[in-house]
Amino acid sequence: MNIEQLKEKKTPFYHYDLHLLDQTLALAKEESEQYGYHIHYALKANVNEKVLGKMNASGFGADCVSGNEVLKAIESNFSKDQIVFAGVGKSDEEINLALDHDIFCFNCESIQEIEVIDQLAKAKNTTARIALRINPNVNANTHKYITTGLEENKFGINMWELDFIVERLQELTNIDLIGIHFHIGSQITDLTPFKNLCTRVNELNTWFDERNIRLKHLNLGGGLGIDYVNPQDNPIPNFKDYFGLFNQFLKPFKGQEIHFELGRSLVGNCGSLYSKVLYVKKGIKTNFAIIDAGMTELIRPALYQAVHKIENVSNTDTYTEYYDVVGPICESSDCFGKKISLPITRRGDLIKIHSAGAYGEVMISAYNLRDKPGVYYTN
Ligand code: LLP
Repeated sequence: MNIEQLKEKKTPFYHYDLHLLDQTLALAKEESEQYGYHIHYALKANVNEKVLGKMNASGFGADCVSGNEVLKAIESNFSKDQIVFAGVGKSDEEINLALDHDIFCFNCESIQEIEVIDQLAKAKNTTARIALRINPNVNANTHKYITTGLEENKFGINMWELDFIVERLQELTNIDLIGIHFHIGSQITDLTPFKNLCTRVNELNTWFDERNIRLKHLNLGGGLGIDYVNPQDNPIPNFKDYFGLFNQFLKPFKGQEIHFELGRSLVGNCGSLYSKVLYVKKGIKTNFAIIDAGMTELIRPALYQAVHKIENVSNTDTYTEYYDVVGPICESSDCFGKKISLPITRRGDLIKIHSAGAYGEVMISAYNLRDKPGVYYTN
């Protein structure tokens, strides 16, 4: 679909570049497979059907964080023995559902949760395969809302609890410990935190081995960032360096499988949000370009002060002015960017907000009783 065709569509709408998605997935697959790594796609980033179809066709497993995501993965033909289920607050209903479908592994975040899984599995006369999600206390150097691997975060089991947990596990008859799991945060662009993670995982892997606990897999989570500032120059993340780093620094024992849970890096730059300018209003210090998409369609700038490249695709003049690009929602946080340099912008111009493929469409809300945006694709 070209720009002229997109201009005809009712705004706001999401648009996915499926060709770029294919290229991204092919590269992620190539770079991971050379080391025998397994990728689980983190459904939370995007559950659009075409996106899920491509993830599945690439042979990736699924990383789910709710019962409904587990169901969605199964409906989308992901193989059950490649589904992992994480989350600090799994309900009994969700655990039962995952047990009924005999998914590959529960990533468990507390002993309390493991005890409930054991009881529910016992009632069904089955055994649950689990991995311990360990909080490695490694700083991801990313926004505080998407940092997950520090002791102050709610996620995972703290390292000082492991002695007790391993002892308790011996009494739980319907639990099979098969791995350890980590996820330190999201939108990580400097790879150093992943190197630090490898050091911690190596220590812990040895710790388990010394206690004669043979772990079948190590799951390193996701978190690889994308280029939000120059998405056109760097549409595909550097999977080569990312997987290469793990290959260099992670020291698994013979036969241990290595798993990853990538979300944003696989789909982030393949999606955009398009919106039309409703009004251009002069403020005291700036011009406001008021567009017909708001934080209801893309909440990332309001919630995480996230930067998304904003482009006026109707007017490509070189003469530019500064605009605060804002939405129609009754909140001052409903702002996509302040002091954005755009060509002279007028009512009716089509605005492209880049890099909205991950945590965009999935985080839409109906606040202010907003309509759902449309979705279009280019093959
Ligand atoms: N595994 C676990 C356990 C996770 O919690 C997450 C993301 C992922 C994998 C995938 O991480 P990724 O590869 O996408 O970085 N809404 C926020 C991001 C929240 C991420 C939550 N967890 C945003 O828009 O930036």
